[in-house]
Amino acid sequence: MAPLKQDGPLVLVPTMGALHEGHLDLVRLGSQLGQVVVTVFVNPTQFGPNEDFGSYPRTLERDLELLSQLPVAGVFSPDTSEIYGAGLEVTVQPGHRGLGLCGGDRPGHFAGVLTVVAKLFGLIQPDIAIFGRKDAQQCLVIGQMVEDLKMPIQLVDASTRREPDGLAMSSRNRYLSESQRRQALCLSKALQAGKEAIVDGCRSRSEIQNTMLDLLQEADLVEYAEVRQVPGLGDDEIISGRTLLAVAAKVGPARLIDNFVLEINPENMVTDSYLLGTGRES
Ligand code: PAJ
Repeated sequence: MAPLKQDGPLVLVPTMGALHEGHLDLVRLGSQLGQVVVTVFVNPTQFGPNEDFGSYPRTLERDLELLSQLPVAGVFSPDTSEIYGAGLEVTVQPGHRGLGLCGGDRPGHFAGVLTVVAKLFGLIQPDIAIFGRKDAQQCLVIGQMVEDLKMPIQLVDASTRREPDGLAMSSRNRYLSESQRRQALCLSKALQAGKEAIVDGCRSRSEIQNTMLDLLQEADLVEYAEVRQVPGLGDDEIISGRTLLAVAAKVGPARLIDNFVLEINPENMVTDSYLLGTGRES
């Protein structure tokens, strides 16, 4: 990878493949910042024992075709043995940002994510790495790793790409039938209702969470509807500043997550916001 750096910063976009327009937005954003390397690796250690590692969509040929239409300097799609070798002695554990939300429902998930991301950083040595705001807690946990372990990498979080009706794009949307696809809209509707409550002046964490929970009931199983502070994921009852609205629910076979990141400024104006650094829109 070293020669690529002569052409500007090396930008890493890690993915698990089954690429959709959300992933491609990350690549497009990356190509404005430097030479993009995309990784495609379905990371076994971030899946729980009863999760969809076995059935996770693997569409490498199609992924390569999509990437060939974009300014991508390299694609790395390693075997599990290339990443994990004979075993898994040293791992990276998340701090408090990994607790609760997806960390509560998926024990071990963020250790799996951090360990593989640290390995990819070590292998590719990017100057910049881009992650989607769609996985907000993942962005914040990776941000803490980079800060605490003094990794010389600039992180950028890119905005969430949605279908025209508001559903956040996800590789797991392909598990949904037509009626489940309609049901899945309750996630973005719950977030919209939470945002409207804040715009209307509500600052009570529990009230906003209840508003979101009401709409989320349309899912088959609600995992959480939470309001947290950014970046520390604190849970003060009276919200202010940068605020994360996050929901997770099961619809049919798919576990889906979505979130809004908002900024409540001192004049009580509410605007869309970002998670890491200065944020960038794709
Ligand atoms: P994956 O789910 O494939 O997502 C790869 C990247 O695409 C992540 O940074 C994710 O936040 C981003 N992404 C997903 N859906 C998006 C959307 N609708 N709009 C914008 N960005 C979106 O996240 C992972 O893989 C893995 O945990 C990984 C970081 C690769 C580690 O294994």
